[in-house]
Amino acid sequence: MVEAFAVASGKGGTGKTTSTLALGLALAETYDVTVVDTDTGMANLLFHAGLADADVTLHDLLVGGRDVDVADACYERFGLTVVPCGTDLAGFREADPERLRDVVAELAADTDVLLLDSPAALDSTASVLPIVLADRVVLVTQPTVPALSDALKVQEYAASYGTGVAGVLFNKVRPADGIERIAPKAERYFEGPIVGTVPDDDAARAARRAGRPLLAYAPDSPAASAYYDAAAALDVGGGDSGALADRFRSAVIPEEV
Ligand SMILES: Nc1ncnc2c1ncn2[C@@H]1O[C@H](COP(=O)(O)OP(=O)(O)OP(=O)(O)O)[C@@H](O)[C@H]1O
Ligand SMILES: [Mg+2]
Repeated sequence: MVEAFAVASGKGGTGKTTSTLALGLALAETYDVTVVDTDTGMANLLFHAGLADADVTLHDLLVGGRDVDVADACYERFGLTVVPCGTDLAGFREADPERLRDVVAELAADTDVLLLDSPAALDSTASVLPIVLADRVVLVTQPTVPALSDALKVQEYAASYGTGVAGVLFNKVRPADGIERIAPKAERYFEGPIVGTVPDDDAARAARRAGRPLLAYAPDSPAASAYYDAAAALDVGGGDSGALADRFRSAVIPEEV
């Protein structure tokens, strides 16, 4: 049984990486979970997961001709399999985004839930690929017009590749935002349910500074508790892992976006 989710937002800094790891840790209580940093240009999941000194990363898997196995870039951390990505520009330049398809296919054969931490923006093959490959997207947004409008653009783009919306996650929500007014209105425009409302919480920033996922660093914080609820609200479908791997391998990669 396997399902691949892209955790995406369009807008930068909404909390995609924080949410990828938080949903990953919560889902790992039930499923075998693999998280992949597919933000190959501006990777930062490694800093959230204490893997800043990882020797082998996704970059090494995306360069042709290197004798590296997918397993070499997999790290068992916090009850998850984590595939970090490197941060140097040379690695990004050499990486061939199309190879992500095969990497993800190989990972899918061996896990229940794949979470692809996606880049902000939709302006290159590398940035849209996780959305194209995933079964469904989890849209991480803030209750502001620019963030909501970018999330809607991602939804529209995803739909054009047959990728549906698993849920919308409001993050960094402050009391003054009026989320109780905004959420019901926003829900009409999204093709998936609102799965959670995560408060703006200093624990999330402190976790990032400590290089630990929020749910490991401050499991009793208000934000962590909201992520547990969101993971429980996320309906994880049951695909066949062989079929999913085949679909990844045959996915059409957009040349122009
Ligand atoms: N609920 C929250 N409350 C307070 N701060 C948060 C919350 N969620 C995330 N943050 C902080 O916001 C910053 C950006 O979060 P994160 O790196 O997860 O966003 P992102 O969408 O992945 O960013 P990018 O677009 O750069 O990849 C980090 O410092 C993180 O600790
Ligand atoms: Mg990120």
